[in-house]
Amino acid sequence: MANLLQRSLAVMPGGVSSPARSFKSVGCPPIFAKEGKGSKLITSDGGVLADYCCSWGALALGHARPEVLEAVAQTIAKGFSFGVTCELEIELAELICRQIPKIDSLRFVNSGTEAVMSAIRLARAFTKKDRILKFDGGYHGHGDAMLVSAGSGLLTHGLPFSAGVPSSVAQDILVAPYNDSDAVKEIFSSCGDTIAAVVVEPVACNMGLVLPEPGFLESLRNLSRTYKALLIFDEVISGFRFAPTSFGEIIGIRPDMTCLGKIIGGGFPVGAVGGRRDLMNLFAPNGPVYQAGTFSGNPVSMAAGLASLKLLISKNPYPAMNTLAKTISQYVNAIGEECGIPINCVQYGSAFTVFFTSRKPRNLCDTKKADTRLYANYFTEMLEKGIFLPPSQFETAFVSSAHNENDIENFFIASIRVLSDLC
Ligand SMILES: Cc1ncc(COP(=O)(O)O)c(C=O)c1O
Repeated sequence: MANLLQRSLAVMPGGVSSPARSFKSVGCPPIFAKEGKGSKLITSDGGVLADYCCSWGALALGHARPEVLEAVAQTIAKGFSFGVTCELEIELAELICRQIPKIDSLRFVNSGTEAVMSAIRLARAFTKKDRILKFDGGYHGHGDAMLVSAGSGLLTHGLPFSAGVPSSVAQDILVAPYNDSDAVKEIFSSCGDTIAAVVVEPVACNMGLVLPEPGFLESLRNLSRTYKALLIFDEVISGFRFAPTSFGEIIGIRPDMTCLGKIIGGGFPVGAVGGRRDLMNLFAPNGPVYQAGTFSGNPVSMAAGLASLKLLISKNPYPAMNTLAKTISQYVNAIGEECGIPINCVQYGSAFTVFFTSRKPRNLCDTKKADTRLYANYFTEMLEKGIFLPPSQFETAFVSSAHNENDIENFFIASIRVLSDLC
């Protein structure tokens, strides 16, 4: 591992291709992946870790699910990239539109970042307005505009903002606290005529897991409609995470556009932006909004996504995944109470965050009160005991369909040991 660390540091900034992988915020050396199988990540030094990071939420079925592998192998044998539309692409688009009936049509891109960037460009073109309202601690990829008050890696590394974003871009971004409908109302009443879109993670996963309070998302729907702004749900994590559909569909709110990624690619690079047909028709070649990509709709990503979504629909592993995550959160909260450590394990469906704070967070201000030093110790000691959680207090952990009761029992045993040592 030391050798890999040295080599990676010599040729890649921070030794990584994405900052959170450096484990900088938890102060321990990063791990290096060799293999993934089911719920386990096997590291280069032969360690076997129960993986609750799940490629940052992309692996709903765990690692290397045989049916997905088979689909990829069959597809890749016929060519890797065509530069023209392929049947798999149409099939995946049809399936997503069926599962999320509020999406009439969609465009594939290569990442969640691209999906959000494209949705914003389209919103600006449609409304002929420039400003975007987002939420403190919401992460929507690393497009310039979305790095203002962003969560995920920026939050993890204590960066309020990324250098290199032009002030002319930043000044068009308005920021409100998550779950604060009054603040949103105020912003709209002072400058609603300049706002093109509201972008929100309907379940916030990038400041740790923070759930929307009743009425919050409804208020965004109503206010954006009143002020003729578009409502964009960033479902890059939440899409197909809690049910074989979007979170918008689960709660019965129709955003104007939905951004997807992660799970819909079955572990391969992907993103998609979808929504009302009249809006989607603004994308070139039908309309004036330019958006393109050499690898968009890549057959291998499409095959992996299709195989994964078909399994999620036919096997419906969601109730079992939810039960496992709920058990984890109940265990952890009980152990925290027993040990007298301020812990709030927030859980929804198969997602959870162990917050070291005494109050259940409702926004970024609350999650920032969590004790990141305690989280770092918990993370490091859990890793030592074979449990891989996200390497930051401000990220979300996931259970996949490959996890089982045995994994959860090991999580429980490790947590008891680690938390008793921490108190
Ligand atoms: C909610 C959300 N939106 C967008 C993105 C960006 O996706 P990608 O990393 O595929 O560019 C992420 C990534 O974690 C995300 O969590």
